[in-house]
Amino acid sequence: MSDLVRFGVSLERALLDRFDTLIKEKKYTNRSEALRDLIRQELVQKQWQEGQEVAGAITLVYDHHKKEVLSGVIDKQHDFQEVIISTQHIHLDHHNCLEIIAVRGRARDIQRLANTMKAIKGVRNATLSISSSGREA
Ligand code: NI
Repeated sequence: MSDLVRFGVSLERALLDRFDTLIKEKKYTNRSEALRDLIRQELVQKQWQEGQEVAGAITLVYDHHKKEVLSGVIDKQHDFQEVIISTQHIHLDHHNCLEIIAVRGRARDIQRLANTMKAIKGVRNATLSISSSGREA
């Protein structure tokens, strides 16, 4: 870290105690690391709410034997190819497939894709996790 700035923070003792407990639970090595993470999370949340560019992953689990689930999953991905960076398909067992769709784009488009995937009949589970695209000013 080249441009490190130090600043003081004043907190009520009780709030700091709770923060320190959280730090221990989340295995942060120090308060600075925890605070940096919280700030980054908050900024990603803001980017998300403002519809800025974000990156993330949509994770799906489905039974590929179920009628039309496979064509649904593929068709919808073609409809959203402008936000999909890559897709990884893992055959979990005889029936189940795990698909991880890496995405980057406007928050609303990514949410729409996640909702669309979730709504496909035969998709057992779909989760969306968002992160920063890393391009923010
Ligand atoms: Ni498979």
